[in-house]
Amino acid sequence: MSIAWTPNLSVGVERIDDQHKTWFEKANELFEAGRQQRAKEYIETLLNFLDEYTKQHFKDEENYMEEIRYPGLEAQKNAHASFVNDLAELKSDYAKSGGNILVILNANKMVIDWLVNHIRTMDKKIGDYVKSLDK
Ligand SMILES: [Fe+2]
Repeated sequence: MSIAWTPNLSVGVERIDDQHKTWFEKANELFEAGRQQRAKEYIETLLNFLDEYTKQHFKDEENYMEEIRYPGLEAQKNAHASFVNDLAELKSDYAKSGGNILVILNANKMVIDWLVNHIRTMDKKIGDYVKSLDK
């Protein structure tokens, strides 16, 4: 399953939206590489990149929420931490399987669904909050 960022996923905060766009691109690259049965080392590199990028993105998002004194920060931190764990598990499952592409392909839907759902239900509220500050 490949999915691109679409305007209906916009949070309304440019720097968050930009990172989400990159995140979708990188996730798609990883899953496409799995689908094409690319080399284990190549998939590992993409997986590591996605893992690092996710952590950096969450950190940036959390710093931003702190800056604007966003009241839902704690819930966001918990959601982020649990997804970071899921990714760590995916990485270790892939390593343990000896580079079985099925591990990556099975994770595809879980990873994309998580992000889409997280953006729709939690991140969009950050944008709503920012808008409410303007009033
Ligand atoms: Fe978030």
